[in-house]
Amino acid sequence: MQYRDEPAAMTGAQAVAGLLGDTPQRDYTEKLRLFNAFARPELREAIDALAVGAGERVLDAGCGTGEAVGWFHESARNRALVVGMDLAAAHVRIARRSAPTQAPILQADMLRPPLADGSFDVVWAVNSINHLHDPVAGVRVLSKLLRPGGRLVVGQSSLLPDMYFAWDARLEQRVNDAVRAYYRERYGRSEHEFTAVRALVGWLQASGLPQVAVRTRMIERTQPLAEADERYLRDAIFRGTWGERLRPYLHPGDFDTLARLCDPDDARYALRRPDFHFLQSLTMAVATKA
Ligand SMILES: C[S@@+](CC[C@H](N)C(=O)[O-])C[C@H]1O[C@@H](n2cnc3c(N)ncnc32)[C@H](O)[C@@H]1O
Repeated sequence: MQYRDEPAAMTGAQAVAGLLGDTPQRDYTEKLRLFNAFARPELREAIDALAVGAGERVLDAGCGTGEAVGWFHESARNRALVVGMDLAAAHVRIARRSAPTQAPILQADMLRPPLADGSFDVVWAVNSINHLHDPVAGVRVLSKLLRPGGRLVVGQSSLLPDMYFAWDARLEQRVNDAVRAYYRERYGRSEHEFTAVRALVGWLQASGLPQVAVRTRMIERTQPLAEADERYLRDAIFRGTWGERLRPYLHPGDFDTLARLCDPDDARYALRRPDFHFLQSLTMAVATKA
């Protein structure tokens, strides 16, 4: 199989950022690494459930920092050909370092992949299709890369509201609303567009893939938290996603309570509570090409 990076497509993609702000220059490698270390058990289980066989060809579309590329290799006992593809130069750089050396990692726009039609048995796109302005167009392009009988796996975390504070459902709801308001404002999107982001099954059907099987796993964590869990929740969520940016969207009293729950130096730090119970959904829709 021949591959090439796509500098021409990169120039075009620079002009229009994706729905959630992705460009070839954008870099959120740290958040991706934290998430993959945290959700590794559930992601590995989803990959193993696909039972990729020897000699099969797998594409990870929007591979980020490349963890899933390595997991597909392990799952198929190094007998599958796994290719990673991502728009962002920084993500591709890290993926090339972390994925097995035999795995090609391409920098390309998944809407214009430098790959031949019909050349993959499995295309895996997790938390990436929802970054496109037109996810159905993305699904159509990716399904063309499949051979007949091949499988397209579209996955997304958090189709259900994340649950952080088992002891305070009201604050949890306020925080989830504040995050949505922040994203609406930051990306200038309407609530309708974010609602449409949730329709994995509908996107696959609209792309001419009627045979869809869907399964939602819960990423569920209680005490004792593993180090990867604590690092993701503290660094990627409490500091990276929440923090000061939520202040304008919360009542001052709620912001103060949240700040204390998120502060490892405060006696009320959420991740030390014995009743800490975290839930996040991870939905995978698998379509088989006729
Ligand atoms: C939320 S991350 C998910 C990464 C990875 N799949 C994972 O689960 O960790 C979304 C990824 O999609 C990539 N991406 C966004 N738009 C893209 C496009 N048009 N073509 C290729 N990759 C894209 C981003 O650069 C980013 O790495």
